[in-house]
Amino acid sequence: ERGEHEKLLSALNQASLFFQKQLRQHPSRERAVSYLKARGLTGQIAQRFAIGLAPPGWENLLEAMEPYQLPVETLEKAGLVIKREADHRLAEKSPYYDRFRDRIIFPIRDARGRTLAFGGRVLGDDKPKYLNSPETPVYQKNRELYGLFESRQVLRKPTRFLLVEGYMDVVALAQHGINYAVATLGTATNANHLNRLFRIVPEVIFCFDGDDAGRNAAWRALRVALPVMEDGRQIRFLFLPEGEDPDTLVRKEGAEAFEKRLLSASALSDYFFRHLEEENDLSTLDGKARLFKETMPLLKSLPKGLFQRLMLDRTADITDTSRDTLLELLGNTAPAK
Ligand code: GTP
Ligand code: MN
Ligand code: MN
Ligand code: MN
Ligand code: MN
Repeated sequence: ERGEHEKLLSALNQASLFFQKQLRQHPSRERAVSYLKARGLTGQIAQRFAIGLAPPGWENLLEAMEPYQLPVETLEKAGLVIKREADHRLAEKSPYYDRFRDRIIFPIRDARGRTLAFGGRVLGDDKPKYLNSPETPVYQKNRELYGLFESRQVLRKPTRFLLVEGYMDVVALAQHGINYAVATLGTATNANHLNRLFRIVPEVIFCFDGDDAGRNAAWRALRVALPVMEDGRQIRFLFLPEGEDPDTLVRKEGAEAFEKRLLSASALSDYFFRHLEEENDLSTLDGKARLFKETMPLLKSLPKGLFQRLMLDRTADITDTSRDTLLELLGNTAPAK
C-alpha cells in the first residue's frame, strides 16, 4: 500500500546515498576506486549512475541507518538487511546483518529515478559475482530495465535502444558516449520490457555476449519478441565476436567502431530464417516438415499484419511450399506457449 511504499523508497534512497558516500570517503575506498578505474570508468560516469560502495563488514548500513529511526523491519522488507538464523543471534550485536558487503553497488532506478533495488558486484573473483536485491513490494525485477532512467536523463529523443545483458555493459557504453543501452536484471527479456522500450523508440537492438549463454538468450529473446512485433517496430540482433561482451568490445575498439557494428546487425527476420535453415536440412522432406513444426507456432504468435504475411511468404519460399498450404497449416496451429 502507499504508505509502506513510501517508507521503503525512503530507506532505499538513504541506502543509496550511504553507498555513494562510502565510495568517496570510506577508508577502503581506494581498492574500489582502482577497480572502477581499471574497468575504464571515470568518477563522472560513476556519479551519473550513482555507483557506490558497500564496505566490508556486517553492520555498516544498519548502523548508518540508525539516525533515521526506521523500523529494522522496513530495511528488511526493502531487501537491505537479512535476519540472522536464530542460533547465530545471541552473541551478535544485532539480529540483522547487511545484505550488501564488500561490493561495488549499482542502484536500480525506476523511470522517475527512484531507487528500487541494488546490484552488487564483488571486487575480485568471489562468488556470486553479482548479488541482487530480492523482489520486494517496490521491486519486481521483470518490470525494470537497468539504465533506462540514466539514458533518458541524457537523451531527449533516442531513436533506438540497445538491450544488453549486464550492468557493466550499460555503464561502459555510456562511458564511451553510447547512452542508449539498457539491461534486463539477471532475468530473460520479456514482452513488457519490449513494450516499454517501443513506447519510446521504433527500434530495439539485442546485443548479448559472444558466448553460448548470450547466443541462447538471443533465440529466446526472439521468441519473446514475436508477439510484440507490430508493423512499424524493428528488432535487430548484433552478435559479438566469441568471448566479447559490449563492455570489453567498446573498450577495445571504441565507440565509433562499436556503432559501426550496429549498422550490420541482423534484422529479426534474417536471424529467424538463418537459425531455422542452420538447424534443418531443407533438401529433405522430413527436414522441411521439421522446420514447419518449429516455425508455425512462432509465425502464429506474430501479430496479424503485413510483417506476418511477409514472414509466411518467405517460409513458403525457402520450403518450396505454396502460401495456401502455409495458411492452412497456420490455421491448424496452436500458438507458441
Ligand atoms: P562483469 O564481469 O562485471 O563484466 O559482468 P558481466 O555483466 O559481463 O557478467 P556476465 O556476462 O557473466 O552476466 C551478465 C549479467 O548476468 C550480469 O550483469 C548480472 O546481471 C547477471 N549475473 C552474472 N553473474 C551473476 C551472479 O553470480 N548472480 C546473479 N544473481 N546474477 C548474475
Ligand atoms: Mn556472459
Ligand atoms: Mn558479460
Ligand atoms: Mn562483462
Ligand atoms: Mn532451434
